[in-house]
Amino acid sequence: MKHILTTAQFSKDDVTTILSRAREMEGYCTSGSVPKLLADKIVACMFFEPSTRTRLSFETAALKLGAQVISVENATSNSSSYKGETIEDTARTLTSYADAIVIRHPEKGMVARAASVTSKPVLNAGDGAHEHPSQALLDLYSILKENGRLDHLTFVFVGDILNSRTIHSLLPLLLHHEGNVFHFISPAELRLPEEYTKDLRTRGVTFFENDDLDAALPEADVLYMTRVQKERFEDMTAYDMVKDQFLLTKEHLLLMKEKGVILHPLPRVNEIDARVDDDARAAYFRQTENGLYVRMALLEYALQ
Ligand code: NCD
Repeated sequence: MKHILTTAQFSKDDVTTILSRAREMEGYCTSGSVPKLLADKIVACMFFEPSTRTRLSFETAALKLGAQVISVENATSNSSSYKGETIEDTARTLTSYADAIVIRHPEKGMVARAASVTSKPVLNAGDGAHEHPSQALLDLYSILKENGRLDHLTFVFVGDILNSRTIHSLLPLLLHHEGNVFHFISPAELRLPEEYTKDLRTRGVTFFENDDLDAALPEADVLYMTRVQKERFEDMTAYDMVKDQFLLTKEHLLLMKEKGVILHPLPRVNEIDARVDDDARAAYFRQTENGLYVRMALLEYALQ
């Protein structure tokens, strides 16, 4: 039984195993014949925050592998949480019904609290601005597929670096590999939290923080756009000041390497013009598809 709470829990070898299993899952799906490896299992999904891709790909992953799914969306209003139940009691309850529990919660640490009281594997589908490990693994899988390697790449992360749980989870995975360089392009208010910059400095990693997207674009092997996380702002005036600052347009593509790759965890709001979508470098919908294969691998990993 293995919880999946943070990417820091994975060694480089663990990640290699998960990604090669995801590749096999992709093969099963493409061939149209997926072994029902989780046939006698029930997967519960409790989402206390909105989701399209994460919840539906976890559910599809479970169904493809023959598991059954019980699911609560809008769990803040549509579960006993609304009546004041603690996350621990909710987790204890799900322990008697499900074999694996996938949870998304707006508060950092709540998924770990659920995991601390249950004997069933808990998968963190995003806890506040903290972590989103399954997204990071599907991002890594996408980078490997698109770029052919995970080392000696230049990453340009753009947008809400402060609150992006997908970036926070992806960084430790990229640090397993040598020679990667990072540009963090954001408004000054949305810079990478200090715990991460401190770690990068300690490791001697080359990184830059500024708001000059045009200057960084020609360097990018991977351009990773993010949405400003409106739901993390208490003050909407502060949000209005930093939103809509970086919109990737067709003109920007002229500055990029021919083999650069554009990723976005999605949903996009105003970060990538739809006219960019038909460029071969726009990989964000392929990235979304990869989420299915990686989450199939993760459910199997957690339930082994
Ligand atoms: C991301 C998230 O929820 O953190 N979405 C996702 O899971 N694909 C990014 C976002 O919401 O901006």
